[in-house]
Amino acid sequence: MRKESSLFLANIGQLVTLRCASNRPGPRRGSDLKELGIIEDGAVLCLGGKIVSVGTTKDALRDPWLKKNRKNVTEIDCAGKVVLPGFVDSHTHPVFISPRLVDFEKRIEGASYEEIAAAGGGIRSSVEGVRGAGKRVLAEKVLAVLRDMAAHGTTTVEAKSGYGLTVESEMKSLEAIREAAARWPGTVVATLLGAHVIPKEFQGRSQKYVEIVCKEMIPQAAKRKLAQFVDVFCEQGAFTAGETEQIFEAAEQHGLSVRAHMGQLSGTALRPFLHFKPASFDHMDHVNEDDIAELAKHNTVATLVPGVNYFLGLKEYPQARKLIDAGVPVALATDYNPGTSPTLSMPMAMSLACTHMKMSPAEAIAAATINGACALRVADRKGTIEPGKDADLAVFEVEDYREIPYWFGANRCVMTVMNGAVARTAGNFCGGLSV
Ligand code: NIG
Ligand code: FE
Repeated sequence: MRKESSLFLANIGQLVTLRCASNRPGPRRGSDLKELGIIEDGAVLCLGGKIVSVGTTKDALRDPWLKKNRKNVTEIDCAGKVVLPGFVDSHTHPVFISPRLVDFEKRIEGASYEEIAAAGGGIRSSVEGVRGAGKRVLAEKVLAVLRDMAAHGTTTVEAKSGYGLTVESEMKSLEAIREAAARWPGTVVATLLGAHVIPKEFQGRSQKYVEIVCKEMIPQAAKRKLAQFVDVFCEQGAFTAGETEQIFEAAEQHGLSVRAHMGQLSGTALRPFLHFKPASFDHMDHVNEDDIAELAKHNTVATLVPGVNYFLGLKEYPQARKLIDAGVPVALATDYNPGTSPTLSMPMAMSLACTHMKMSPAEAIAAATINGACALRVADRKGTIEPGKDADLAVFEVEDYREIPYWFGANRCVMTVMNGAVARTAGNFCGGLSV
């Protein structure tokens, strides 16, 4: 892998820019969600980690600057492949030690996620591993995941803490994210999820734990700039709506933005939270009509994570069609975690969105790129291929973008560019480049 000061990708079969003619600010909604801004036989020029020009190969080759400097520019012949903005995976939980294979088997035998959690499995069973691990070990785990994500086309990742559940272990988890991020050329946005579940030692004393989240975890994470967001698992058996509000207030006081796991197992009224301007409500399997109409007027993104429904073997999936048709901005993410969604593949999440939530391939791509960027408030830098944005690109060994969700379970990403750094990911494709 190396950072190229100048990079020219040419002969791109479909350059999926995600440029949208309406130019409406904020996340994509309604019919804007399927506008991909495709350029046939496209080319992209990147300088110093930024995209500087986007157009056809023919026009790019006539550019006087390129003509003059061509021999100093690293050139990649994409030979008809498809190029997308790198995926923005806006919901992941990468700081854990072990897979939860016992939970997996119990569920196959018929136990539900809630039953397994009540019997001592679930989130709490991942806590011991994190509490006992050193920061270095956790950072190595996170880094390995980030690299694997990049190999699947993801260049920006939101990473949550949430399996430590003490001040020390939550800060250690955020430090591990920071350490891994510093060793990866992509972009990481960190989230404090101290309010993932009430730890065993606070059972029956949830208010005491919420106080620790509000008075110790949030202030420390903010002061040390370890997180940009605070997340809460708002659910029966986790945190109540009232506790979520308390935590959001503390986040606001300390200058951190908020997001929440909402409506995963049961519904919670969303309206009372909107004044906190949450960047995103995630899962959203259960949401009422009134809230759908309200969300259509706000920029809070509904982040859908169908990997969870797939992995838990659920019959129902979030109602993406209803949300999109009502004008709610929708993003897609993997929710990579050991309990409900051990996948780091955005193409897999997109495939599930198409087959089980009836999103079109075009909508799935926009939801996995620009709307993911909106859900992380990085849309000024990420999520589309336009001059001025970061040089984050993913090259796929396909002729048509619809093949990306179509060939499910296989990785067709052959190269990623992250802030101008090129990583060859699979097969022998290198576009004439020695990486
Ligand atoms: O997004 N719901 C809360 N958090 C995760 C599950 C975490 C776990 O089971 O370890 C989720 O599904
Ligand atoms: Fe999650």
